[in-house]
Amino acid sequence: MIFKLTEEQQAIQEAARDFANTVLLPGVIERDRSMIYPQDQVKQMSAMGFMGMMVDPEFGGLGMDTLSYAIVIEELAKIDASAAIIMSVNNSLVAWGINEYGSQLQKEKYLTKISSGEWMGCFCLSEPEAGSDATSQKTIAEDKGDHYLINGTKNWISNGSTAKLHLVIAQTHPELKHKGINAILVEADTPGVQIGAKEDKMGIRSSDTTSIMYNDVVVPKENRIGPEGFGFKLAMKTLDGGRIGVAAQAVGIAAGALQLSLKYAKERKTFGVPIADHQAIAFKLADMATEVECARQLLYHAAYLKDKGKEYGKAAAMAKVFASEVAMKHTTEAVQIHGGYGYVKEYHVERLMRDAKITQIYEGTSEIQRLVISRSILQGNVYEPIFVNNG
Ligand code: CAA
Repeated sequence: MIFKLTEEQQAIQEAARDFANTVLLPGVIERDRSMIYPQDQVKQMSAMGFMGMMVDPEFGGLGMDTLSYAIVIEELAKIDASAAIIMSVNNSLVAWGINEYGSQLQKEKYLTKISSGEWMGCFCLSEPEAGSDATSQKTIAEDKGDHYLINGTKNWISNGSTAKLHLVIAQTHPELKHKGINAILVEADTPGVQIGAKEDKMGIRSSDTTSIMYNDVVVPKENRIGPEGFGFKLAMKTLDGGRIGVAAQAVGIAAGALQLSLKYAKERKTFGVPIADHQAIAFKLADMATEVECARQLLYHAAYLKDKGKEYGKAAAMAKVFASEVAMKHTTEAVQIHGGYGYVKEYHVERLMRDAKITQIYEGTSEIQRLVISRSILQGNVYEPIFVNNG
């Protein structure tokens, strides 16, 4: 399949690539080492419209398609996977759900702020005892007539300390199991919201990840997204799109590792020739390039299906599981190609390798992606024609 990018898609790709090289690259090693949140860089990303790429222009977004969004995430992640996930969470996990299912009031009050980057958002689904098993929500949103009273703890929340708006998934009617779950917008400065310490992570270290505690948090009923009991479905649909964002991040990390490896392999000499002339290295580069291309095709296909209004959950899961495994495998190979230099921070590839790992875990582990894919194909969704052309 050939994806012919439109002029608009090519322009945004170029803008994102230029931004990543000129704004994200300086200081990326130090931000990673010292867990420094890229405050100024996020401001600039917001000014470029990157925080609400798929949001209707009426509510401050760029109104662009998912493919454009994936292309931008990929370009940022080639250089700085932390910046990519900060953007991805805001777009896929927060803005998308409000844009798609929010009330007019929620859109006017919150979506405009989220899509302009004036407010960051976070998506609060995971709990200490509810990660992969997302229906086991222990956070309670008690129905008190005109408001909900929220109590519980959320874990591993990306954008946790910077978000001003939390999209909280909580149980209102435990007897109804997942059908009793609601999605509720909570302002971070509401009394009773307590943000935990920043996690000291292996990778994506300049993005902020925290736990969040809700202690008797009062939230008006009008902040519930969609009808009563729609929260779990909203979370699942949101994650279908989120997985496209993570797949794009993984493709970017892998493509970044490939770029650095190609450069190094042409410059570094052993036994009198560039190491690229040794078949052992050239074949590694060939495998990297091939699998990065496969991952990108799966990614673009999932984005295309979403943009065309077709079912995309399985395609997103395929893109995520494949791209994240390619990212892990080939960042490790990139370190190997760089030898001792690959093992030190200055050469970037060890950071890419650490960043790659999380793409196999968040927004659904590789095991969950395989569960989603296997359930879908066992129901008969084995083959979908993919000979479509974009543009
Ligand atoms: N779209 C719409 N509805 C869906 C759906 C989807 N993709 N997937 C499931 N549902 C619906 C089902 O139809 C069902 O509804 P009905 O009963 O009305 O038919 C309901 O949801 C329950 O579905 P299942 O019976 O399939 O539920 P399950 O308990 O077997 O779980 C699961 C399914 C796929 C394993 C799901 O729990 C899952 O995706 N788990 C992983 C969660 C995850 O990705 N967590 C990451 C957290 S986000 C994050 O990482 C934070 C961050 O900051 C980056």
